[in-house]
Amino acid sequence: MPRTFSSPDCEIVIDKLVGRGKGLGRRQDGKVVLVAGALLGERLRVRVTQEQRDYVLAEIVEVLDPAADRVAPACPLTGECGGCDFAHIDWARQLVYKQAALHEQILRFQAAPAVELAVAAEPPLAPASAWRWRCRVRMHCDGRKLGLYRRHSHAIVPVTRCRQVKVSVDRALAALQAMAAEQGLPAGDYELVASGDGAWLAVSGQGRCFADRLLADLASLPQVRGVSLRGGRRWHDGQQMRADGPPSYSYQAACPSVGRRLLLRQWVGGFCQVNWEANALMLDRIGSWLQELSPSRVLDCFCGNGNISLVAAAVADRVLGVESDPRSVRQARLNGRQAGISASRCRFVVGRSEAVARRLAAKGERFDCVIVDPPRRGCRWLLPALADLDCRAVLLVSCDPATLARDMGTLRRWGYRLARLCAVDMFPQTHHVETLALLRR
Ligand SMILES: C[S@@+](CC[C@H](N)C(=O)[O-])C[C@H]1O[C@@H](n2cnc3c(N)ncnc32)[C@H](O)[C@@H]1O
Repeated sequence: MPRTFSSPDCEIVIDKLVGRGKGLGRRQDGKVVLVAGALLGERLRVRVTQEQRDYVLAEIVEVLDPAADRVAPACPLTGECGGCDFAHIDWARQLVYKQAALHEQILRFQAAPAVELAVAAEPPLAPASAWRWRCRVRMHCDGRKLGLYRRHSHAIVPVTRCRQVKVSVDRALAALQAMAAEQGLPAGDYELVASGDGAWLAVSGQGRCFADRLLADLASLPQVRGVSLRGGRRWHDGQQMRADGPPSYSYQAACPSVGRRLLLRQWVGGFCQVNWEANALMLDRIGSWLQELSPSRVLDCFCGNGNISLVAAAVADRVLGVESDPRSVRQARLNGRQAGISASRCRFVVGRSEAVARRLAAKGERFDCVIVDPPRRGCRWLLPALADLDCRAVLLVSCDPATLARDMGTLRRWGYRLARLCAVDMFPQTHHVETLALLRR
């Protein structure tokens, strides 16, 4: 059991950066100290917050010698709300730190030796804007306060304005906050999704708390386009409750590498990449890697609304997308039709990727390339089925370097080698990074 206590402050120097944006130094007794928000080479006064057997966690009391990359955060909530944990680093340098942490994980899990990694790594991709990139944000309400969770806690930090989200979402957030202050809101999650010059509001929580009257009030806020309840089964359009399928919103992605400009829709509440500009860069890079690979058959596991599958369909003869959320699959099919891609060229099925891949392998189906874009926990469960599919290339897309490196390590033991690696700054001002890794054998 970790011991939480307050101890006298101590001075440390950060000699290494490790995962999740933490700096590592050593206490006088030699014990490792991990500090959030610390930069390489900095001398800090820190306070120990948690003592573990092999290391301690500490927080910064004072930066005694700041690194050249340290900047004054642009938002007063930095360090409070847990949102922008890299806002103290010059944006141009944030990607350097993220890439270093990514490489460290790859080496730690023996997913590629240093030379192979150096050859495979391409310059990272960064969008043009460091702020206003987030198209959706989930606020939490405990019945009294509406905001984001404090870091490592479920205590709510009230957030009225947020520089990370798109302007339309920020305006809707301010209106929602004003309503919370005036009449209160039931406990639950409130997800705002950018749509045109307004935002959709998807609410979840105790369903009965969300009386039609309250939904009507929320939907009548001028910045809110409509309110969708419990996964979109019911929603309010500002006039009345409706049950005609979940509402949706759209975003664009230009992909010059495959000569296409995609218009993609997703239902309010379904998974969607949060940074549309970075998503377009990512899709374009995937397109150019696939062009080189020139696969005939592609399997896209965890395909969501077809975001990546439709790029693959511009290159390959046949693409199969697999997704566990039936509403995203419905949307993927509509997106394919909208892009003029025939259902025989790009097919989508509802299912769990691990089960579908196992069935395909048992039937003797073969794919030249499998794309795997799993949730944060990675795709450990899918890997045995992938081995049976015996494909020559696996394209991993991941928002967590640790689970990515773990899964790459397994694939390496089965003969796959890292051919290309590219970090994408999908989440500026945070330690999070999206990664593309192409493995071949
Ligand atoms: C990180 S998202 C990627 C979606 C899509 N590739 C994109 O770029 O927008 C992961 C997706 O996997 C789906 N998912 C989660 N577990 C799954 C499973 N076991 N099998 C299939 N899909 C799953 C989620 O619903 C979500 O749409």
